[in-house]
Amino acid sequence: MELASPASVSLLLLLCLCCMVLTVAWKRPYHRGQLPPGPAPLPLLGNFLQLDRKDVIKSLKKMRKRYGPVLTVYLGSRPVVVLCGYKAVKEALVDQAEQFSGRAEIPAFSKDFNGHGVVFANGDRWKQLRRFSLTTLRNFGMGKRSIEERIQEEVQCLLEELQKTKGAPFDPIFNLSRAVSNVICSIVFGNRFDYEDEKFIALNKLIFKRFRAAGLTSAQLYNTFPGILEKIPGPHHMGSKCSQEIISFISERIKMQQATVDLNDPQNFIDCFLVKMEEEKQNPATEFSLENLVMGTFNLFFAGTETISTTLRYGFLILLKYPQVQAKIHQEIDAVIGRERIPTMDDRHKMPYTDATLHEIQRFSDILPMSLPHMTTRDTWFREYLIPKGTYVYPLLNTVHFDPEEHRNPEDFIPERFLDANGCFQKQNAFMPFSAGKRVCLGESLARMELFLFFTAVLQRFVLSSPVDPSRLSLVPDVSNLGKVPPRYQLCLLRR
Ligand code: HEM
Repeated sequence: MELASPASVSLLLLLCLCCMVLTVAWKRPYHRGQLPPGPAPLPLLGNFLQLDRKDVIKSLKKMRKRYGPVLTVYLGSRPVVVLCGYKAVKEALVDQAEQFSGRAEIPAFSKDFNGHGVVFANGDRWKQLRRFSLTTLRNFGMGKRSIEERIQEEVQCLLEELQKTKGAPFDPIFNLSRAVSNVICSIVFGNRFDYEDEKFIALNKLIFKRFRAAGLTSAQLYNTFPGILEKIPGPHHMGSKCSQEIISFISERIKMQQATVDLNDPQNFIDCFLVKMEEEKQNPATEFSLENLVMGTFNLFFAGTETISTTLRYGFLILLKYPQVQAKIHQEIDAVIGRERIPTMDDRHKMPYTDATLHEIQRFSDILPMSLPHMTTRDTWFREYLIPKGTYVYPLLNTVHFDPEEHRNPEDFIPERFLDANGCFQKQNAFMPFSAGKRVCLGESLARMELFLFFTAVLQRFVLSSPVDPSRLSLVPDVSNLGKVPPRYQLCLLRR
């Protein structure tokens, strides 16, 4: 019998090795607890080929039809538990709040944070930063009168700016983002910026670009294969470049404030953090570090700008599409506020139709359709599944907002769903634009205040119209993955 050549033995060994590696890679995920069902993953690729990178949510919703409202999908070799519909999301985020309160990475976005700042922190760091941020925002008037006045001042500046358009069509994107951004700037940095300030304009463009980039196909690719894509040049690095520019702006501001702060009389969020850093400087395990200050400021600044301005922009587009809704809001404004004085928060509970419309805008625009990704903080029994500690969890808020078991004709824009038979405002369970549970949006009350004051003030002053026929306006988002971005459009404002 002829002996095998060394080359063929090596080839055979190599083949055996490949088979072993593939078998291990193939089998490994199934040993991770008793995860919910889902499509069979390919070794290393996971379910990559089954996910539409342009619309991940659509693919997940398709899988839900087959596997049920709690399913597992593999991003590369990482299992992600996906929660669909109001019941599953509420059971996890609210009823088992502690277990689902961890934050997962979104590599294309979180890599620049390295676990610093409240949004991407976990464990004790997150608890300390969240408590500090909430208290400090509250002390600077969030939910109090002073911040209401601050927003009203900014509303006046915005109205003056909008007045300058004199009825000509314009894209409202940066007018809105600069006004909204100024509110959070005054809380975080202690000052607003002139709308013509070049750095401020550039910063707002960067924030928009950063938000949009997080939803692009290239970011989804990066999120699935971060190790490989980090080493390859390409468009997936664009978002990170924007983040780096925003970080350097914030670092510069912090340096300036460090030089001038009066630790006995802090004036804004950054000052308060600097006081805390000083108090804890002997504590080697302190979380009040420069990294957490820079990233925490970035979190507030970014979250406080893009979310609210995107919602307003979507809201105004929806009103262009449905002029009858706009007419009803005009009527309510005239009846409750009149045309002279500026809107206040006390007006809201007397304006159920406007309140209902704002809720419907938030439900329908659904700007963070997957919320931010969560992670289990311990091995967790959920329904009949055992989800191991550290498993990523996507609560699909989109499936809460468009849950047919909770909302009649969820695809339609119907403000009346938030009104009872007497025309009074009526809450809906399946309304979670700020998410729910322990990670619920930290800026919710500030956001709700800004949405109401900016929205009603613009409508009190102007009639919104579109240079194209409403029937030709599309409400389909331009990008819909991590964030939803409404299509660009032209707006005409006619003084009332
Ligand atoms: C319309 C406006 C807004 C919407 C729709 C919104 C929505 C959200 C959502 C869905 C989350 C994820 C919650 C989760 O992990 O389950 C979140 C987190 C967060 N939001 Fe907002 N947000 C808005 C405005 C704001 C504002 C104005 C601020 C800042 C003052 C802010 C600061 C934050 C922070 C810091 C977190 C992270 C909380 C944590 O991880 O503990 N947001 N927001």
